[in-house]
Order: sequence, then structure tokens, then C-alpha cells
Amino acid sequence: MLQGMAVNRARIVHVCRECGTSHPKWAGRCSGCGDWNTLVEDVDVADDATVERSARPAPTRIGEVSAEYGDPVPTSIGELDRVLGGGLVPGSVTLLGGEPGIGKSTLLLQLLAARSGPTLYVTAEESAQQVTRRAKRVGATRDDLWLQAETSLLHILDAIRSIRPELVVIDSIQTVSDPALGSLPGSVGQVRGCAQRLVTEAKSRDVAIVLVGHVTKEGGLAGPRVLEHVVDTVLQFEGDHHHALRLLRASKHRFGPTNELGLFEMASEGLVAVPDASTLFLADRRTGIPGSAVVPTMEGRRPIVVEVQALATPGVPGVPPRRSALGLEGARLSMLLAVLGRRSRVAVADQDVYASTAGGVKLSEPGLDLGVCLAVVSAIRDEPLPADLAVFGEVGLGGELRQVGQPRRRLAEAARLGLRRVIVPANTPDGHADVQVIRAATLTEAIAASGLGTHSPSALRAAV
Ligand code: TYD
Ligand code: MG
Repeated sequence: MLQGMAVNRARIVHVCRECGTSHPKWAGRCSGCGDWNTLVEDVDVADDATVERSARPAPTRIGEVSAEYGDPVPTSIGELDRVLGGGLVPGSVTLLGGEPGIGKSTLLLQLLAARSGPTLYVTAEESAQQVTRRAKRVGATRDDLWLQAETSLLHILDAIRSIRPELVVIDSIQTVSDPALGSLPGSVGQVRGCAQRLVTEAKSRDVAIVLVGHVTKEGGLAGPRVLEHVVDTVLQFEGDHHHALRLLRASKHRFGPTNELGLFEMASEGLVAVPDASTLFLADRRTGIPGSAVVPTMEGRRPIVVEVQALATPGVPGVPPRRSALGLEGARLSMLLAVLGRRSRVAVADQDVYASTAGGVKLSEPGLDLGVCLAVVSAIRDEPLPADLAVFGEVGLGGELRQVGQPRRRLAEAARLGLRRVIVPANTPDGHADVQVIRAATLTEAIAASGLGTHSPSALRAAV
């Protein structure tokens, strides 16, 4: 079907709609991301036609290039500014990815409403009425917030030129198209071509643009990953539809670090910041239950105390044991179980083990290791850890405990939440006046220090 549309210079290529890798021939599996059945036919016009027509700047001596980028402009949404390292940089393009219904449109309406200058919300999916209804619900209406229900890229560019907004939101980039690009709306070529055109516009007019990208596992739409190298910043909005908690992270950021976490709650008046994450994560904790450990983790520069839970049940003989991790990395859990078995002689080999972070928050930080291990041992022993105990530390393959970053802030956060004792790796430099710091050099020492290793040694027998 596309052959007929192919213009003189254009080539037919096969592009992965998940990661955007281009292939000269069709294949069942993408060589870029390894996904199956993701290659779709597309017209490759960017290579020759568009690039040749655009003006090419001459090379410049590096000393003559201004390294100044505009300073980030605070958005008035504190949790967003935290993730962005201060705010949105004028002329930058940000991609906000997330599953449908997670709250992207709501967050961005709030973002536009918080600005004082002219801002433009382009809705390429919902009608202007639907957007207005939502805006009224969350109090995101003001005079200089412009709304355009449009899917054509050229009309959107016209609107940007006439309104001269400081900030533009395109919701979503996957539904915007430009007939000149040749390929079908929603295809990799269209999505990438339109995004590239918007990047040029952002840079030339110094306007910050935020693109919404739906994460689509199935279906014909190109995924947001095809845009990752086109934009300056990639934000991910995550959360569980059944919980109000929403997490915002940056996976790419040309203007700052990518390790900060923003926390929101979906309330009746839109997204509100979660000021005290630790209290929220520990709210449902019941003390005296086996298989629970409390860990002060670091998310960027913010300490958050979370509960790690584990459940162990005897496996079915002859069947490989089940290992399931929720909110934690599965490979990390497997490794920790292997270390527990080999180095601390905990009988994990015949146990089905389930481990999760309470509240469904996804974490991957080495400081959690010790908490996961002690939660598993507590579950296998069917004995609770002391209610006032917290633990943190990385576990090495030799069963040794390794220091992790920011121990002082972790200890302070544990103390603030009323925890009185903290097991830490032996080399941890700092102490804290308000908590008792218990140092352990190995996982086995930590198990003993937690009180789990001292009674009924039957459960701690040699690994198979
Ligand atoms: P939305 O911003 O439309 O999500 P996305 O753009 O990511 O698809 O938000 C969708 C959900 O949020 C919807 O199911 C209703 C809920 N919601 C609230 O709970 N409170 C609110 O104030 C608003 C506007 C939405
Ligand atoms: Mg939406």
C-alpha cells in the first residue's frame, strides 16, 4: 500500500514500532530491542528529502559556541521541579510517557494553569469540551491558557506562531500527523517526523514543549521509545490504577540528574504532591508480622522509608521453586536468595519465595538488599523482626555487606519515623544520635544481630 505513495527519494524501510530501529528488510524479530512482530512498513524520508532541503549550519570553533542554555523555569509544581532539577528549560522538549488513564493529561493541565504567561494545550485525542470539563474539575482554568483541538502538525505550528506561548503541551504526539511525511498517522515515521519538527520549533522559538506519549504494549501505535533520542527529557509517569499513588521519574534528562523521584496522589481535585512519602508507605504496616523489614532507601536526594515484605512457602517437590518479585528486580531477588543459601546457610532452595515492596512502589536501589534478605529469613523462620528495627546495606556475592550512599540521611529519616535501631554495613562511616547503629560485616552477622539467628537453629540449616 505504501509503495504507491513513495516519492522519488523515499525508501521503503521496516521500522520497529517499539524502539524505532530501521531494517532494510522485514524480519519477525527486531534486531534493536528483540521484540517479536513489531516491524512495520514505513517510508524513510528523513534521510534524504527533508535533510537536504534544510539549511546546514557551517562548523563552528568550540570556543565560539555559547554554552549557555536558558535556566530552568520553575513550574510551581514542586514534585515536577524536583524531577526536572528546577523546572522546564525554555526551548527544551520533554516527553511524558505513561499508560492511558494514569493522569498525564491532568498533570499537564495543572502545569499549564500554574504558569502566568500564555500557554497552549493541544488536544489531539479528546474534544475541547472534555478537556475543559477536566480543567474545571481541577481548577486549571485561566485567561491565557489556550486550547486547540487539532491533529494536523501544520495547524499546530501555526497556533504556536500566532499565540506565542511560553509552554506548549501536545496530547498526544501519537495522534498528530503531517501528510507531507508520507506514512500513516500513528506510524513510527509520522510520530518521529512530527516530534522532530516540534523540536526544531521549540529550539528556534525558545518555547518549552511537552509531548504526551502513551505506552502501548499492543496495537498499531508507535511507542514512546522511538522518540527517546529526539527529545531532551523523557519522563515516566507510573502507578497502579487501583492506588492513588503516582510516581514521576526521568529516564533521560539533558539538563540534570535522572535519579529524582516525584510523588503525587490522584485526588478529586487532580494531582497533589505527597509531602511525606515515608509516612504514606508505612501507613498500613502492621508490626509483629513475620516477613517484613523496614528499609530507609534513597530516591535521588530524598530518603524514603519503605516496608519490604516476603512470604515463603514450601515448594512442590520436583518442581523448580517459584520466585516472584513485585516492585523489586526479579534478578536481584534470585541473587540474594542464592547468597542467603550459600553464604548464610539459610534453607531457601526448596522454598517458593514472594517478595514485594509495600504500596507497589518500584524500587531498585542496592540499599534494599539487606532488607529483602532479612524479610526472607523472617518469613522462612516465621518470626517477626523487632518493630523498632530498620536495616539497609548492599549484599555482595560473598555474603559481605557493602556500604551504600547517604547513610546519615537514611539514619535521620529512620529516626524521624520513630525507629530506634538500624543494622548497617560495618564500614558505614556515620552514626546518628537518635538511633542505635548496629554494624554488621556480613549477612550472617546481620541475621544474628536482628535476633533471627539466635533461636531455634533448625530453620537455619546447611544449604542443599
Ligand atoms: P487522565 O489525566 O485523563 O489520564 P491520561 O491522560 O494519562 O490518560 O486521568 C485519568 C484518570 O484520573 C481518570 O480515570 C479519572 C482520574 N481523575 C481523578 O481521579 N481525579 C481528577 O481530578 C481527574 C481530573 C481525573
Ligand atoms: Mg490523556
